[in-house]
Amino acid sequence: MFYETEIGGREKLGAAVKIINTGGIVAFPTETVYGLGGNALDESAVRKIYEAKNRPADNPFTVHLYDFGQARDIACVTRDAERLFEKFTPGPLTVVLEKKSLIPDAVTAGLPTVGIRIPSHPLGREFLKECDLPVAAPSANMSGRISPTSAEFVYEDMKGRIPLILDGGECEVGIESTVISLASNVPTIFRPGTVTLEQIREILPEAVLFTQSAENSRFPGFGRRHYVPKIPCAVFSGVSAVDKAYDEELFAGGNPVILAKNSDLPLFGGRNKIGLGDAGKEIARNVFRILRECEKTYSRIYIEKLSAEGEEGAVMNRLYGSCEGEVLK
Ligand code: TXA
Ligand code: MG
Repeated sequence: MFYETEIGGREKLGAAVKIINTGGIVAFPTETVYGLGGNALDESAVRKIYEAKNRPADNPFTVHLYDFGQARDIACVTRDAERLFEKFTPGPLTVVLEKKSLIPDAVTAGLPTVGIRIPSHPLGREFLKECDLPVAAPSANMSGRISPTSAEFVYEDMKGRIPLILDGGECEVGIESTVISLASNVPTIFRPGTVTLEQIREILPEAVLFTQSAENSRFPGFGRRHYVPKIPCAVFSGVSAVDKAYDEELFAGGNPVILAKNSDLPLFGGRNKIGLGDAGKEIARNVFRILRECEKTYSRIYIEKLSAEGEEGAVMNRLYGSCEGEVLK
């Protein structure tokens, strides 16, 4: 299917809602990244999302709701889930719960569980409210690419593949929501985000961060090729290692760039460099935009290793994907 992809703001809200209500798909803004939405109760709409993204059929979509009240129709809502939704939503958290049969298997890739998210972006919320049905939505990038934080970035990936992008400006949070499962033995964070483990532990002290092991290595979406720029990318921890690699790239005729915390930029002298921000939240907001900008200008990206904890840890979770294991020490 080929579409003349339109981009429009609030004036396109009615058109966007109509597309969803008639079985089509639309990109819409959330505070984390843009989503590519379709009616979660309509299997053929869900299949259109897989097709537009070229997404493997074994990776589940999260379901977006306007209001917590809608959750009981589609999932078994536990007391712990209620407490998480009360505290953190509307906002950047996805809670995985046992699903009810109303949600087709195509949404959850056959899993008995469903991820539920109630975003806070004002136009995104208006959209979900007027759709008045659960909206299945992965991030609005081609599978494997960097999640889009603006309507223009959605357009780069989705031009011709979807009819409409609802433009809500730049995403405030900038990386995808924290995903926590309450369907496992202990509450487990599958994907770290700006709602941190520490914050979640204030409500669920037993919560843990997922670590890969022989038994659980097959949890959905984990270990996939993801967040990969169009140019090679490496994470570095030592300044001398990156200086050496940078200079080799330069002598080979390349045009490399170093991405680092603002306070560390002076370490890299006259080399090409871009500040990711001062700390966690700001770095999360900037990182995907900077990666998408760099791939248009430079030949190779070197990114400074950040803290493994909190928001910086959530950013690193994405960047290890971007560099596909390439770490300079
Ligand atoms: O911030 C976000 O969560 C964005 C915006 C658009 O809401 N959405 C997003 O969706 O990042 P997506 O499909 O790119 O990533 C959702 C991830 C899946 O890759 C998977 O790891 C996890 O959430 N997930 C979803 N449903 C799950 C389930 N039933 N069990 C385990 N993990 C699940
Ligand atoms: Mg994604």
